[in-house]
Amino acid sequence: MQGLTRFLATVTLAAILAVAALAGTAPAAGPSDAQLVQARVAAMKENGKILKGAKELTGAAAVSAATTILKNFSSFPSLFRKGSITPDSRATAAIWENWADFTGRLSAEKANASAMLAAARAGDRKAYLAAIEALKQPCSSCHLTYARVF
Ligand code: HEC
Repeated sequence: MQGLTRFLATVTLAAILAVAALAGTAPAAGPSDAQLVQARVAAMKENGKILKGAKELTGAAAVSAATTILKNFSSFPSLFRKGSITPDSRATAAIWENWADFTGRLSAEKANASAMLAAARAGDRKAYLAAIEALKQPCSSCHLTYARVF
């Protein structure tokens, strides 16, 4: 019995060491900087494309458009991980020097997207169009402050 206990303890220790060794050689957890840049540029472009045609949408299509924009603005804070700049990226270090302002701007856009979604669901045309205008308004100001001009 004592032999079995010792055997099991050895096996468990070997398993722990194997996991630790794997963890040591595995790449850093989470997406790479390049993946983050790609994901946030794709989401930004998707928002821009949707907003261009959003005024013509009604019903389920309007709800779907607003849902995607809301989802994108909700995911941006995690896509702008500290220092994640690559040569392809237009992001500047000012983002992390003014993180509260940057995320505040994203939250304001999230609120606009929520308003767009609520209006789309309610079929409130006037509120829907107003929310689209509100969403479009802050884009360039943020790019001028936090992105290399494009
Ligand atoms: C809180 C700041 C902020 C707001 C608000 C914002 N953006 Fe951006 N956007 C950025 C940053 C920073 C980048 C650069 C990302 C990178 O390259 O790493 C960017 C990149 C982009 C790009 C990619 C440009 C390119 O060619 O690489 C597009 C398109 C874009 N944004 C559209 C929009 C639109 C449309 C809106 C408004 C609905 C918007 N953005 C709102 C910060 C913002």
